[in-house]
Amino acid sequence: MLDSSRGRARWPSGKNIALALTPRYRWPMLEGRRIAITGGAGFIGSHLIERLIQGNRVVVFDNFHRDALSSSGLYDHPSVQVVKGDVLDTDALRKAMEGCDAVVHLASIAGVDTVLKNPVLTMRVSLLGTLNALEAARTVGGVRRFIDFSTSEVFGRYAYQVTEFDATTLGAVGEARWTYAVAKLATEHLAMNYHKQFGLPACSIRPFNIYGPRQVGEGAVHHFIVRALRGEPLVVHNDGSQIRAWCYVDDIVDGIIACLTRDEAVGHAFNIGNPRSTVTIYNLAREIVRLSSSGSPIVFEKWPHPDVEIRVPSIEKARDILGYQAKVDLEEGLLRTIHWYRRHRT
Ligand SMILES: NC(=O)c1ccc[n+]([C@@H]2O[C@H](COP(=O)([O-])OP(=O)(O)OC[C@H]3O[C@@H](n4cnc5c(N)ncnc54)[C@H](O)[C@@H]3O)[C@@H](O)[C@H]2O)c1
Repeated sequence: MLDSSRGRARWPSGKNIALALTPRYRWPMLEGRRIAITGGAGFIGSHLIERLIQGNRVVVFDNFHRDALSSSGLYDHPSVQVVKGDVLDTDALRKAMEGCDAVVHLASIAGVDTVLKNPVLTMRVSLLGTLNALEAARTVGGVRRFIDFSTSEVFGRYAYQVTEFDATTLGAVGEARWTYAVAKLATEHLAMNYHKQFGLPACSIRPFNIYGPRQVGEGAVHHFIVRALRGEPLVVHNDGSQIRAWCYVDDIVDGIIACLTRDEAVGHAFNIGNPRSTVTIYNLAREIVRLSSSGSPIVFEKWPHPDVEIRVPSIEKARDILGYQAKVDLEEGLLRTIHWYRRHRT
């Protein structure tokens, strides 16, 4: 639908599209299931596992390029089976998915700085890894939900209240940052086409700047909190006027659970984020210094790569179809995160 007052695509709020769909994949209770999580040792995966093991069994499939699992206390949990493997290895993936009711595919090279250093590996893991994961899920049989993880980077440099109807933007070829977005966008197409062509009950999630305890990669909140707690300078790229909406990790876990349990999710991509927690990077740094009672200075550094100037999601579609609503405001989420880092990292 086109909202002519703004000249752009809007999610048609009010229409209960969810009710209009045939419930072919109904799975209302998340209990007694076996769920494979590729990239489950990472930041989001470790939080998802924490939620899922309340009544389900989880198979973590990860090459441990990153590891948030070890600091979570979940590694040896009786409901968690850890398989060390690479998503580029189809046979190992297929074996790990045997007997699983659902697959959450998180494995990826993530984080702008890591992507800039490894653009080819980034594409390989996204493109081939996701193809392998979809093919394994299709052929192993019994998989009733496949959740593909895309990114809000698919909206490019200027993304204000973007909906899933808005055009995605592919940045200039040769800029390593955009290789991540292009590859992730391809995974969405793959997931949708596995659904259309083979009937695999797949959907995609586009996370918008997730933060919280146990973030192991780069990320402004992680970087700022660790520095603030050490009393070191917080380094802000350029003038710090870039705008982001920050989403606490528990909220994206809610979004994933809704995608797992609501059959209406199948065949869709969803923005998952928290538009109410929107600030400039400079003000984020100031907030973290204030909330952690730190004396750290904020310093500015020229960043030679393309940056995203503004990124704020519309979450209307996720609200209408999934019943999703972000619950944790920025101050509360930052306080919880600071508390965790204070106990674990300093
Ligand atoms: N955190 C965010 O703000 C954010 C934003 C947009 C998209 N995402 C996407 O969400 C997903 C999870 O992100 P995260 O923040 O937990 O990242 P993360 O880096 O903490 O987790 C990714 C996991 O994938 C694993 N992995 C990497 N390559 C692999 C391979 N070849 N085989 C098997 N495992 C491999 C890593 O070891 C890691 O445990 C990723 O797909 C990421 O691109 C995250």
